[in-house]
Amino acid sequence: KRWLGTAADIPGTGEGADPYYLAEFNNANEFGEATPANTMKFFATEPQQNVFNFTGGDYFVQQAKASGKEIRCHNLIWANQLSDWVTSPAVPWTNATLTAALRNHVTKVIEHFGDDCYSWDVVNEPLSDSPAGAWAANVWYNTIGEEYFFQAFDAATQAVKANNLAVKLYVNDYNIEYLGNKSIAMQGLVKELKSRSLQIDGVGLESHFIAGETPAKADQVANMQAFTALDVDVVVTELDVRLNLPATAASESQQKLDYYNTVSACVSVARCVGVVVWDFVDTYSWIPSTFPGQGYGDLFLQPGGANTPLVKKEAYDGVLEALEGL
Ligand code: G3I
Repeated sequence: KRWLGTAADIPGTGEGADPYYLAEFNNANEFGEATPANTMKFFATEPQQNVFNFTGGDYFVQQAKASGKEIRCHNLIWANQLSDWVTSPAVPWTNATLTAALRNHVTKVIEHFGDDCYSWDVVNEPLSDSPAGAWAANVWYNTIGEEYFFQAFDAATQAVKANNLAVKLYVNDYNIEYLGNKSIAMQGLVKELKSRSLQIDGVGLESHFIAGETPAKADQVANMQAFTALDVDVVVTELDVRLNLPATAASESQQKLDYYNTVSACVSVARCVGVVVWDFVDTYSWIPSTFPGQGYGDLFLQPGGANTPLVKKEAYDGVLEALEGL
């Protein structure tokens, strides 16, 4: 079994209220998995210290389960989208106080969602691009040092055991989709987790790609195999392929090939559990606001804008052909 999934920001005022978007999301024949783009993140789930809010996350679970989807819960510990009490504490953090807060968050959130989560991204984006493979700086690392990463996995491992859960524990990052210093450093983290007897079931390969600059299929396969050789699964967790606007016939067919190559790479690796696109309609993509002048990265567009019918792009056929092994 291998699923195609999507990130979604439901509920919300955008896609979560767009009937055409929702019809596609709820079509059980399309997506077998869903990832909450924002609703399970730190700021949403623990807005004040030890005061939890699962309203958005619970709604997401209900929506995804209604069409039988697995849920990759995302994420427990990250640099971004934290609550103010974490980033601007009333009393400066010490190693001990921040470690306790980190462990409490990981434990309580895992306990709440339980086996509704197929997996959790326990730590998101722990590694830096410069120098590639170093620890990324963030409040956790700056205060606790690299032990924050292992503390998060230790709390997660214990929560899974104590509650007898089946939930799988992942580490997720970008620029680890091909062999290089960052990917090799991630292999090192997997090995270290295993040597400490902490639970690590998989590595998430984000795969936010640029049309024409995507790693070759063989490179993606070799990279996936380097992880699975360590006895972990891999998932392509956030696939999109942005291009310079406006799209042209040439860039659109390049994009189709890029989508095909990544999905096909996953299909050819036994322990690649699935591919998740980071949302499926350009209207709601994170790309244009982050990379001005780029976009058109998703599988569908809405020529009439929000709340109008969806149109499949060539990229959709690329994904389908890869899944069917064409
Ligand atoms: O909800 C507020 C809204 O009230 C406000 O009017 C609006 C004005 O900016 O902002 C809205 O919040 C935005 C939120 O998405 C919901 O749309 C935030 O500004 C915006 O920063 C936030 O972006 C999210 C981003 O993570 C934050 O870094 C994206 O939706 C989300 O798709 C993106 O996802 C990340 C993954 O978690 C990790 N990997 C990279 C990926 C893409 O950046």
